[in-house]
Amino acid sequence: MKEELLKLLRSRDGFVSGQTICDSLGVSRTAVWKWINQLKEEGYEIEAVTRKGYRLQKSPNRMTKEEVDRNLSTRIIGRHFIYEEEIDSTNEEAKRLAAKGAPHGTVVAADMQTKGKGRRGRSWSSPKGDSIYMSFLLRPEMETVHASMLTLVIALSASEAVEEVTGLNCKIKWPNDLVCHDKKICGILTEMSAEMECIHYVVIGIGINVNTKEFPEEISAMATSLSLESGQEINRADLAAAVLNHFETNYEMFMRQSSLLPLMEKYNNRLINIGRQVKILRQGKEEIRTSQGIDEKGALIVTDEEGRKEEVISGEVSVRGLYGYV
Ligand code: BTN
Repeated sequence: MKEELLKLLRSRDGFVSGQTICDSLGVSRTAVWKWINQLKEEGYEIEAVTRKGYRLQKSPNRMTKEEVDRNLSTRIIGRHFIYEEEIDSTNEEAKRLAAKGAPHGTVVAADMQTKGKGRRGRSWSSPKGDSIYMSFLLRPEMETVHASMLTLVIALSASEAVEEVTGLNCKIKWPNDLVCHDKKICGILTEMSAEMECIHYVVIGIGINVNTKEFPEEISAMATSLSLESGQEINRADLAAAVLNHFETNYEMFMRQSSLLPLMEKYNNRLINIGRQVKILRQGKEEIRTSQGIDEKGALIVTDEEGRKEEVISGEVSVRGLYGYV
């Protein structure tokens, strides 16, 4: 009902009379008044004028299903969308839902996380109200070995979405960090439940620093947010919807061949490390190589001083720029 009321208010530039709302939604004036108050409590600014009715003036910067739905053009991804004000971790919630049989394409988003998880057992700072914490539950029919490529598909999609919504130049640091002006704005954590050759499900969590104004001291040198870089407040629901839209398109292209071949060019065009020297940390040893971009399996192709090519597999090594984070 709330969704329908919002749709109706949004469909007009001016006022919608109380009577029109009652007639369209088939409810009483008291019910309308109750829903309007609830929307106001959720942060919607609604003007109410006697004999004119109600007018939506401003929507809150939140990632609720109603807000994300406005710009969602997907068929499957995010059509089952769960929003929580507070959660331990959206990845954990997506895994719990997966165990209960939630469908492929389910998306869990939260306004804050109390136990946000990063890669390699690290935590992910997840304060309330200004970022995107979102996890995708996928049930892809493909071999287990191909699942790690999905992380790159999300990275590409999120990078495209950031550019579309903010106009910022958003690069990818292989395999899956997003970078604006050489600082990290987004991290991705992929988890999988599988048995031998069979994938039960994959959960991919994405954390985007959207309107964050300050970072904990230990990460402030290498982390930034979209609002700090663009100088404007970004609508989180618009950005979340754009990520889902791009992801569905890219996911379908990827799944046709279980290969990154159709996405490789787009990915490599956004790769910050391309043509640059990178430091590869492998089994405690450091090696300097030049990055040439990814192949169709998502491996990073690097060359040594003699031009000899080598594949670096995601998860096997850590790639650092020579002069800092990139
Ligand atoms: C990284 O270390 O770069 C990965 C960070 C991933 C953070 C996101 S936020 C949404 C999802 N839920 C989590 O607990 N982690 C991921």
